[in-house]
Amino acid sequence: MPDWLESSDVLAEQYADSENLDARIAFHKEYSTAEREFRAWQFDQFDCNSDARVLCVGCGPAELWSANRKRIPDRWSIMLTDFSPGMVETARENVTDCDGSFSSRVADASDLPFKNDSFDAATANHMLYHVRDREAAIAELRRVLKPAGILYATTNGDRHLVELFDTLESVLGERPARSTGFTLENGHEQLDHRFDDVELRRYDTALAVTDVEPVVAYALSREDVDESLADDLRGAFAAQFEDGVFRVSKDVGTFVARG
Ligand SMILES: C[S@@+](CC[C@H](N)C(=O)[O-])C[C@H]1O[C@@H](n2cnc3c(N)ncnc32)[C@H](O)[C@@H]1O
Repeated sequence: MPDWLESSDVLAEQYADSENLDARIAFHKEYSTAEREFRAWQFDQFDCNSDARVLCVGCGPAELWSANRKRIPDRWSIMLTDFSPGMVETARENVTDCDGSFSSRVADASDLPFKNDSFDAATANHMLYHVRDREAAIAELRRVLKPAGILYATTNGDRHLVELFDTLESVLGERPARSTGFTLENGHEQLDHRFDDVELRRYDTALAVTDVEPVVAYALSREDVDESLADDLRGAFAAQFEDGVFRVSKDVGTFVARG
């Protein structure tokens, strides 16, 4: 199976607009067991001055910002970037009623169109595992951050959604492609090359899924799962429910990198 998670053609198709991603985000939100909502938790991690310049790389539909619209300090200026023009357009629409001031650009993470020392903080959330030249992207993030700037990079660990992937494997007959290039396990050493101080903050959560259809839709939102497998998936996932609940592990955290 090709590793579509790093293939630029397939990624361009998958992220041409926010439809697939929106479906997956809604699924996680609906069945989360976390005490603190994920986007609120992500925003809690920021440690920035009241007039910070923040770069958001691979911003997707900008949900980090729209979900925290009233928490954004008025004097923050936020630059939204993504390599998908469709995502940048959606992101712009989604932040129209947010506090703070926003601008946007189409940009590849491994070649950022900004001067050295431009930003106080940068986010690269759930995206570094997609970047083929990740070393260049991390170097670019360090370059455009001020010396005291902070990078926030959320990603998943090896046990993320393991029960869901085990079931998917039983239907596909092979292990589905996972995004293993930048994980909670190997992200630290990659950031260490460019940042002096790297800390991992874990987000404590899991999924308690109570309906089979959303988990089927989640599987079908992947580029490597064909619509014709819907019935097989439905049967395989239905068999995982105990007392009406399919329990799925999540393994998520944010690296906070400084210096
Ligand atoms: C899983 S989504 C995450 C979106 C958002 N950061 C979030 O946390 O909801 C990954 C995003 O990274 C973008 N992306 C993938 N590779 C990229 C690259 N090399 N440069 C910039 N953006 C990229 C995709 O277009 C997509 O919007």
